[in-house]
Amino acid sequence: MSKIPVIVDCDPGHDDMMALVIACCSPELDVKLVTTVAGNKPLELVTRNALNVMHYIGADHIPLAEGCDRPIVRPKDHVIPKLAEFRRHTDSIENGAHGASGLDGFTFPENNPKKPIGIRAVEAMANVLRESEQKVTIIPLGPLTNVALLLRCYPHLISKIEKISLMGGSSEFVFTRPFMEFNTFVDPEATKIVFESGVPIIMYGYDVTYTVLYDQSVIDRIASHDNQTSYMVSQLLKAFMYRHNGAFKWLGLTDTCPIHDACAVAGVVDPSLITQSRYLHVDIETGGDFLNGATVCDYANTTHLKPNVQVVYRMDNERFFDLMERCSAGGK
Ligand code: BDR
Ligand code: CA
Repeated sequence: MSKIPVIVDCDPGHDDMMALVIACCSPELDVKLVTTVAGNKPLELVTRNALNVMHYIGADHIPLAEGCDRPIVRPKDHVIPKLAEFRRHTDSIENGAHGASGLDGFTFPENNPKKPIGIRAVEAMANVLRESEQKVTIIPLGPLTNVALLLRCYPHLISKIEKISLMGGSSEFVFTRPFMEFNTFVDPEATKIVFESGVPIIMYGYDVTYTVLYDQSVIDRIASHDNQTSYMVSQLLKAFMYRHNGAFKWLGLTDTCPIHDACAVAGVVDPSLITQSRYLHVDIETGGDFLNGATVCDYANTTHLKPNVQVVYRMDNERFFDLMERCSAGGK
């Protein structure tokens, strides 16, 4: 069976870490390139985290290219005042769900020899598309800045993209604001470019990611494997449950936790994991006062526009956790 060629664009992040482990350690995927984008933390930190994870799990052979350090239009830190305002209304934990490093809860060895390649993410993505005989699936797990620029800079390569399987958005789930999800909120203009591109999009937003909740039994299963990847994953899953549930106390989660980004990779490895989805027309708010980045889903077909997104609502959780375990056990 031929492997599925993919590009993973990420901003690790604990859930990005899990997504990278699934992508790099699943025999079904051929990860051609990993790219990083500012999101959960500034670009330097998320790049360091991605390099650390990839080296630790034995994925040194996969190139990593650094991408954008800020959204396309909005100022670099436009999200910070809004998050500060948002946190005033929550029981925030210090440094948020991912901690000061972006990947708190595990100490990676120092002197990691893995370095980013010498070209930027958008150019590296274009090279992969150009050189691939098969169409390539892009899996964005952070703000859509890099992917939007790729579509704008290399329109003639859009036909080489199989689909975009992304973590982002929300059709109903109320989080920071109605409809609001972090990745689409950080770079609304990039989100609009991607959603209007005509490339098939599968959206794993809060609708589904807050229904795929791991618990201690999943951590224990992963920890029972005697390899360093499983150990690292189990430590970071434990840390993320503590941090996420402390940062977002009003959600009322105590012994369970989402692992958002991993859903968007798992669905590429095995599309039969999707048990409920709808094809909808989805517009992106970019000109409002309160909801910039909102993924506005046209349930009633009032726009009469063709659906541009497969919105995912439910996955087969047990088989998803099996995949998390299998890929962790398959790493170094
Ligand atoms: C998304 O935001 C980030 O914190 C996570 O890594 C995920 O990509 C969830 O809203
Ligand atoms: Ca992410």
